[in-house]
Amino acid sequence: MSVREIKKHSAVSHQLSASAVYYEMKKKIQPIKDSFNRRIDYLRVSITDKCNLKCVYCMPSKGLKFFKESEVMTDEEIVRFVRIARKHGLRKVRITGGEPLVRKNIIQLVSSLKETGIRDLSLTTNGILLSGLAGDLKQAGLDRVNISLDTMDAAIYREITKQGDIEQVWESVREAEKVKLTPVKINVVPIRGLNDSEISSFASLTFNNNYHIRFIEFMPANCSGVWAKDKCVTSDEILQQISGLGNLERLTFKGRGPSRNFRFKGAAGVIGIISPLSDHFCGYCNRLRLTADGKIRPCLFSKKEIDIKTPMRNGASDDEMEKLFIKAVKIKPQQHLLNEDPASGGHLKTMSKIGG
Ligand code: 5AD
Ligand code: SF4
Repeated sequence: MSVREIKKHSAVSHQLSASAVYYEMKKKIQPIKDSFNRRIDYLRVSITDKCNLKCVYCMPSKGLKFFKESEVMTDEEIVRFVRIARKHGLRKVRITGGEPLVRKNIIQLVSSLKETGIRDLSLTTNGILLSGLAGDLKQAGLDRVNISLDTMDAAIYREITKQGDIEQVWESVREAEKVKLTPVKINVVPIRGLNDSEISSFASLTFNNNYHIRFIEFMPANCSGVWAKDKCVTSDEILQQISGLGNLERLTFKGRGPSRNFRFKGAAGVIGIISPLSDHFCGYCNRLRLTADGKIRPCLFSKKEIDIKTPMRNGASDDEMEKLFIKAVKIKPQQHLLNEDPASGGHLKTMSKIGG
């Protein structure tokens, strides 16, 4: 399908999605609750384990085996699953990878996902390919993006990503703003001795730009042997470092999620702090993950997975798939044990396989 056909198709899709939202409101579909009374309305979908970079905190520098094409969920399978989850109040979908923009037909997939009636469709990208696709993604129904950028120094950027050109990322940030994939969120993983001296510079970007700068504690993914407890800059340290820059106010957003949000008085943008290690945010967790090879992961840090691809390929009915979705919600653990036992993240061989 050409881009023009997709655009035409997505214009129709948006009407459909508006009526789907109306249907949802009218029927008052409430999000399904897990065994700990948490509302689960958010799905992170990893659509590929491949990436055009090799960030130190995410991928091993060599020896990584990728899924075969036949192992990866097809567009139709992903969209079918999202449609089924929508019946149980799913409202938010984030497309992740690997790097989602290396997947073929990404515009079409975004369009089909929006057509299911998802209210908030976002995507996490490293920003290398985004500038050329931003306009088409927006037209296809994407609402906003998170861009990974851990440093403002071109040489350190290459050290972190192994092969990235930082200028392409900044170009993508500007393009995303231009086409209103906003608010543009920038993910920063501070690693002691690598980029931790830039925490204040990133925070200061929010004074004049409506960026959401999200500091994420370095998690023990055991990906390239670089993780060590003392390399993780805790959220308390981050807050301490930036508190001298201005008058930091705590924000409360309607949406739930793991981020604690702040704004400097009078600043245009927002600062988010995500502390999987130093603080439990599990009490607010509202999400499930779908891996690129078709497994539902109720918790990023749990080994439990439910295979949905095999039953789908064996002809499971929508009712049967719905039961699997409900089962995944119900087995979601109460909390992870990372802060008590960082080694419990050891099975997270690479984030790029689960979607970060
Ligand atoms: N620790 C923290 N965040 C990580 N991500 C990937 N690996 C890690 C890790 N070990 C997150 C980053 C990146 C996104 C794709 O996944 O925020 O921006
Ligand atoms: Fe690729 Fe993102 Fe992982 Fe970096 S963090 S290697 S860009 S998937």
